[in-house]
Amino acid sequence: MKNAKEKSRAYFNAHRKSGLAHGGYWRHDYRSQLQAIGRIKPERLIDIGCGTGAFLCRTAECYPDIQLSALDLSEEMIRETEERLSGHVDARVGDAEHMPLPDKAYQAVTCNMSIHHYPHPQAAVNEMYRILEPGGYLLLNDMDCIAPIRSIANVIFPRLPGGDVKMYNRTEIESMLIQAGFRRLRYRKITPFSFQCIALKS
Ligand SMILES: C[S@@+](CC[C@H](N)C(=O)[O-])C[C@H]1O[C@@H](n2cnc3c(N)ncnc32)[C@H](O)[C@@H]1O
Repeated sequence: MKNAKEKSRAYFNAHRKSGLAHGGYWRHDYRSQLQAIGRIKPERLIDIGCGTGAFLCRTAECYPDIQLSALDLSEEMIRETEERLSGHVDARVGDAEHMPLPDKAYQAVTCNMSIHHYPHPQAAVNEMYRILEPGGYLLLNDMDCIAPIRSIANVIFPRLPGGDVKMYNRTEIESMLIQAGFRRLRYRKITPFSFQCIALKS
């Protein structure tokens, strides 16, 4: 029986060229993330769980001066990200819960539709905090919905092939961010099925 990370790696390695992966999962949420990046104006940004690099391609179109980095568990997703951003990204294979990245290296960390794959999300959020410069921002985007649907989803998730673990609710997300040390949290629903939470490393 594979654990969630083994399932995620195998699933996303096999889906490098799928239309959904290529366009970006839940890409209609990218606009809110891009608007926030425009306000923050980071020089260095990393996208955690970057998939095929769809979000970083949009970031590069909107903000060509930002130095882009990427991390993903799946080797094939990282290959796709490198090809799509041809030389304009520092992309690495790695686990969000144990990032092979230095302290205080980025002014913005984005994470789109990935945290629901993490069995130990607190470890990943702690890592996001560690790699940010003081004054840097986390821009976290993932699924959320009304409680009865979330409960059903959380029964189904572990049975899915993609290594989905849990749809974390607002209280869980905010508690993790506060425990990691983040301040000035701004959580908002983007669609009935997704949220954005922006948080400051002070
Ligand atoms: C649903 S996809 C989202 C991809 C991309 N962010 C997007 O917007 O299209 C989830 C991504 O998270 C990655 N992932 C899952 N678990 C991970 C982990 N522990 N560390 C890093 N990446 C992980 C998967 O390989 C996959 O590329």
